[in-house]
Amino acid sequence: MINSKIIGWGAYVPSRVVTNNDLAKLVDTSDEWIVQRSGIRERHIAAPEETTCTMSVAAAKRALEQASLSVSELDLIIVATSSPDHFTPPVSSLVQHALGAKDVPGFVLTTGCTGFVYGLVTGHQFIASGAYRNVLVIGVEVLSRFTNWQDRSTCVLFGDAAGAVVLQASTQAGGVGAFELGSDGTLAEAIIMPAGGSARPPSLETLQNDEHFIRMNGREVFKFATRVVKASCDRVLAKAGMTYADVDHFIPHQANLRIIETAAEMMQLPLSRFVIVIDRYANTSAASIPLALTEAIAEGRIKSGDQLLMVSFGAGLTWATALVQL
Ligand code: UT7
Repeated sequence: MINSKIIGWGAYVPSRVVTNNDLAKLVDTSDEWIVQRSGIRERHIAAPEETTCTMSVAAAKRALEQASLSVSELDLIIVATSSPDHFTPPVSSLVQHALGAKDVPGFVLTTGCTGFVYGLVTGHQFIASGAYRNVLVIGVEVLSRFTNWQDRSTCVLFGDAAGAVVLQASTQAGGVGAFELGSDGTLAEAIIMPAGGSARPPSLETLQNDEHFIRMNGREVFKFATRVVKASCDRVLAKAGMTYADVDHFIPHQANLRIIETAAEMMQLPLSRFVIVIDRYANTSAASIPLALTEAIAEGRIKSGDQLLMVSFGAGLTWATALVQL
């Protein structure tokens, strides 16, 4: 049996910090509303010259360094994002070139905020099948470019970031374990960028109607998330023959502190079992879990051998949950 161990991790956040009070100067909102309803205090926003590619490369270099792996040893690059540099070419090719990973295959994986966990599970399949040995999985977003800065119901929620891990084939126990991937397209409209794709190509009308920005039915997504987090964690743990007691740290997608609190309550677990970074970074979509992982390792909170349960939800609507032993 070939396991996929995380041997390197890294994150990158842009240096510019935008506080809730900064946003209160742009739209009709307040620090109090944002903190109470979401737990967000500030977010990092990319500088004009930064892109999904440059941020991916910054996080990937840190993960490769941590893994003591040279770029030439990579077999595959998976970039999970909903905010690529371009529709085409795939941003994975831009990242491959910028990293100097000559001829290494790569692809973009787009499942919204669940992209990183989908990517982790996908990378694991290439390793478990024996096809590849070293897989770079990146979760990255520059959602600030697709945010309507006049829409208070969305612009206060998102932040920019990149996170990356290196997965390596191993005969030792641990690594990516039981998982569940899911999607429910009946709720597709709940998070949508209406125009720009083949269904509604760009036009003067779509630009005038702000149809190239993210629109979200927050309440719908909130209900979905609280429903799916505990249920999916329960199923994954059952598959693995484990219980909550066997999990050292839960790493949930960071969309809203209240969603995490509700899940913890439903699971009858203290909030201290959950890694939470939403206060400092807001919702960084596909980057949120590798960012939280990297932060918690840097703080010495997560250690080698710890059993982690990553659980995510987002556009699609999709969900993705995976047990990972570091
Ligand atoms: O990453 C995965 C995708 N995203 C999510 O998981 C997000 C899930 N949803 C949420 O996090 C929450 O639904 C939000 C934080 C988006 C909103 O919180 P809520 O408690 O569900 O508020 P709401 O949408 O029901 O809005 C309540 C009120 C409304 O006013 P009325 O209709 O009651 O008069 C909104 O217009 O709050 C108003 N509101 C705001 N007020 C001040 C909405 N946004 C703001 C704002 N500042 N930024």
